[in-house]
Amino acid sequence: MQTIITLPAACDFHIHTRQGVLMEMVAPRIAEGGVSLCYVMVEPNLKPPITSTEQALEYKAQLERLAPNVTFLMSLYLCPELTPEEIRKAKKHGIVGVKSYPRGVTTNSESGIESYAIYYPVFKAMEEVGLILNLHGELPSDSDQQLHNDFPKLKIVLEHATTKAAVDTVKALGDTIGCTITIHHLQLTVDDWAGQCHNFCKPVAKFPHDRQALRDVVLEGHPRFFLGTDSAPHPAYLKECAHSCAGVFTTPLAIPYLATILDSFGAINCLRKFACENGKKFYGVNEEEGKYREITLVKETLLVPHSYSFDESVEERRGSIVPFFAGKNLTWKIIN
Ligand code: DOR
Ligand code: ZN
Repeated sequence: MQTIITLPAACDFHIHTRQGVLMEMVAPRIAEGGVSLCYVMVEPNLKPPITSTEQALEYKAQLERLAPNVTFLMSLYLCPELTPEEIRKAKKHGIVGVKSYPRGVTTNSESGIESYAIYYPVFKAMEEVGLILNLHGELPSDSDQQLHNDFPKLKIVLEHATTKAAVDTVKALGDTIGCTITIHHLQLTVDDWAGQCHNFCKPVAKFPHDRQALRDVVLEGHPRFFLGTDSAPHPAYLKECAHSCAGVFTTPLAIPYLATILDSFGAINCLRKFACENGKKFYGVNEEEGKYREITLVKETLLVPHSYSFDESVEERRGSIVPFFAGKNLTWKIIN
């Protein structure tokens, strides 16, 4: 018997869309992966980093030209140049949040955050106007906890949780604290990335009991946990060299991957809440006018391509991305 599921196209609350030819390959694949709304991480990889409303809106316009059916929610990069006035302006123009990177934890984040003290006026403005603070954390640190105490109405999202400790901490905190979980962290553990450069990401996948905690919170349908893929393409040769870049590319098949993995641990019925509903409710957002759609998934074999080309003018390993689960079979595919 064929199994079919119809549900709203999904929301990805943490995606890296890059620039230039890479962006041109990635953006049109967001909808193909079953996603209609995504929250774009302005990242230290973007040159220059996006710290103003104008820059964010210009980046959004570029993405919309490539993917007119997708709702792109934008963020700003937390840095000393960001002012409370810019926060108010950002809110007026539909910017959704501000991303904070601790120094050195991810690709090109040398200029990230060391102490929050200087940002208190910015956080106060964010709390007032209702912008979200996105924390790139392994575990909520003491300064994160302090931040939550000092700005109890500021909505904070702990990005890409990988540990049982992070899940427990988020659950113990109140309604203003949300948490994203990636597709790959629901699948990988330490053994999968040690020696397998294409599974290497940051934060790295942890131990089986950590993965179980991520799976359990999805199974529970906890409303403050939702999908943020952290899909992060790097050219194959940069993944395959000695100092492999961190990042797993899941955008083109996001929902087929997720359905396959959820089904493997009895959570296919949790797909809707985790990927379509919880995040929208936490953020208080919806698709832009005319951009809501539904997807139909069917339980059928789907072979993941070995690579996606983004630049035919250079050597193949320089001009292509190896996706997650390359060359493997998924058990669910999208048919519309
Ligand atoms: O693995 C990762 N890659 N983690 C991140 O947080 C950033 C990302 C990237 O931009 O490559
Ligand atoms: Zn990220």
